[in-house]
Amino acid sequence: MKPLVAGNWKMHLDRAGARLLAAELMRSLPAPLDAAEVAVFPAFTALAEVAAALAGGDITLGAQNFHPENSGAFTGEVSLPMLLDVGVTRVLAGHSERRHVFGEDDAFVNRKVLAALKHDLLPILCVGEKLDEREAGKTAAVVERQLRAGLKGVPADRAGDLTVAYEPVWAIGTGLNATPQQAGEVHQQIRKLLLDLWKEGARGVRILYGGSVKPENSRELLKTPEVNGLLVGGASLKADSFVRIVRAAG
Ligand code: PGA
Repeated sequence: MKPLVAGNWKMHLDRAGARLLAAELMRSLPAPLDAAEVAVFPAFTALAEVAAALAGGDITLGAQNFHPENSGAFTGEVSLPMLLDVGVTRVLAGHSERRHVFGEDDAFVNRKVLAALKHDLLPILCVGEKLDEREAGKTAAVVERQLRAGLKGVPADRAGDLTVAYEPVWAIGTGLNATPQQAGEVHQQIRKLLLDLWKEGARGVRILYGGSVKPENSRELLKTPEVNGLLVGGASLKADSFVRIVRAAG
């Protein structure tokens, strides 16, 4: 399976900064991208600029957030038709910052996954335990709950459109990545759960690791069984470090 390396730019970069970073990535990662798939997730205000900068290349455009309804009185929200209109093809759902800072629960994350699939956008469902949950031995239970709830109602024939990202909350933005062994254990658990849900159709679902991924740890993480790519935050904001991570994947 071709690995996917995704850059989550979070609430960083103005339009000029985003355009510059996208242009640098286009120069360093020209089409065809054979060894890995690459996607970037800029802030809403930069989506149109980045779409233009990525035109004609193989790097795809994602959005960090959206509302599951198509339109309506949802002040401050952005819908999937709006994202399709600017050229977005992937979306994040269930990122830990959305869950724990903005209070999105499993049921809402599930609505987002189903809405994304309905619009033929490719969702990346993020799951992961907090530090107290890991210390209390609840990692497997938390990941199973988030995964089963997030995927409720997704038919097996849509499995190929889905990506899962395991992002232990204690590793996000902390500089403290999960060891390959810790990541490997959870990734294997996720693969088993997906196989249980979707049988053989689950084999093609990529499971990304995210949480303090850097050029220095990316190769080892990517060698870990069932790690099929990386979701990168901080290290995706500089072309040099992101490109080194992409090269580690291929
Ligand atoms: P980080 O963020 O690489 O800065 O830890 C990862 C993420 O939140 O997706």
